[in-house]
Amino acid sequence: MAKLKTVFLCSECGFDSPKWVGRCPGCNAWNTMEEEKISTAGKVSASCKAAKPQLLKEFTGPGEHRKTTGIGELDRVLGGGVVDGSLVLVGGDPGIGKSTLLLSAASQFSRRNGDVLYVSGEESAVQTGLRARRTGALEDQLWIMAETNLEWILVEALKMKPAMLVIDSIQAVYCPAIPGAAGSISQVRESTGRLLRLAKDHGIPVMIVGHVTKDGSIAGPRLLEHMVDTVLYFEGERNYAFRVLRPIKNRFGSIAESGIFSMENDGLVEVLNPSQFLLAERSQNVSGAAITACLEGIRPLLIEIQALVSTTCFGLPRRATAGFDANRLGLLLAVLEKRQGMMLGNQDVYVNAVGGFKLVEPAADLAVMLAVSSSFKNRPVPGDLVVMGEVGLTGEIRSVPHVLQRVREVSNLGFSKVLVPWGNLAELKKASLNVELIGVKTLSQALEVGLH
Ligand code: TYD
Ligand code: MG
Repeated sequence: MAKLKTVFLCSECGFDSPKWVGRCPGCNAWNTMEEEKISTAGKVSASCKAAKPQLLKEFTGPGEHRKTTGIGELDRVLGGGVVDGSLVLVGGDPGIGKSTLLLSAASQFSRRNGDVLYVSGEESAVQTGLRARRTGALEDQLWIMAETNLEWILVEALKMKPAMLVIDSIQAVYCPAIPGAAGSISQVRESTGRLLRLAKDHGIPVMIVGHVTKDGSIAGPRLLEHMVDTVLYFEGERNYAFRVLRPIKNRFGSIAESGIFSMENDGLVEVLNPSQFLLAERSQNVSGAAITACLEGIRPLLIEIQALVSTTCFGLPRRATAGFDANRLGLLLAVLEKRQGMMLGNQDVYVNAVGGFKLVEPAADLAVMLAVSSSFKNRPVPGDLVVMGEVGLTGEIRSVPHVLQRVREVSNLGFSKVLVPWGNLAELKKASLNVELIGVKTLSQALEVGLH
């Protein structure tokens, strides 16, 4: 009978230590060690045969075998479809739509490739069935199993040999042989290890859902990230329909791709033209709004930035942002005061990126400044103009990366003018674009052109 012993495991990298330490010796993270009980029984190795060195050039075969999931945006982030025997982790906040996405992927996949086993450890079969009916995900070869014991799940998976296995979620399943509650680090590590073996030994692609918690008290997908082939994060504001699926790691494709969805009443819908979606409710000829072209991975997106500048009533002026870094806004406002003489010290400033989208690129600086100036001066930005550029502390406009992709999107969406950094002009002039290019070197020039 195996005895239990107490160890401390790091929730970031899985390093184990016999005593508690403040800093993990494995990954140097602070306060990540958690107490767990593990069995002292020796580990069983997966295979008793040792591998032999072989020449690498003998392994240049036709490459990995991929199957389409039937959801274009998901295929795109996976690098062109699901690779046989791959282990994919889909992480994200609770309630963001992970189960909805994987259920619909499972259903589409089963229509094309045969049996798919969807294991739901959190919802009952009836709940999943109702959701499937509501979102149109009922298929003849889609199987549901409401089970949390991984032993039983693996027995059924080996019997069925499905074309794909979905585990929703890894924090809900447990191995009875391992002590500790479901979701503890040792359980997550062992369960993932077993699923990895199933995927590699039988070539079954396995998709697992992993929850992200703010305080990291559940064994976070951080530890899982090292074990799996592909990590996708599903992100978005819960109160908005817009969702982005981003690859964080992909052993079989690029991580510059992104998948864009909208959460509707009847499930997740792929958004094929995100810029149009984001600009749908834009009002023209009002002050305090500017449109910029951002990159989501390598995809250009046109986003409206709104600003409201109003006189402060009490004491300190407020600066509040949604979808834009508040510190960056502080910096941009200081540049406007110093270089343009705009007295914003007694004004509240609110900035919002429309659609629940988060702007992280400095290329959005110019649009934020234009929207703020437009609201402050009560002069609208022309409705057919898109602006982009990073603004430096001296008020200079710096060039932006991948400008051609951005301007192509501007021209595809029918805008007639685009304000770009002077430094990008030469590259753009070489391409034939159906849009008027206005190059600017300084903030003053940009404000002159950008405000009616
Ligand atoms: P869910 O996929 O259960 O999230 P997760 O698995 O990431 O926790 O879905 C979360 C939310 O999505 C749910 O609160 C309601 C909403 N939703 C819709 O708006 N429309 C739908 O068709 C479905 C299925 C869910
Ligand atoms: Mg769920």
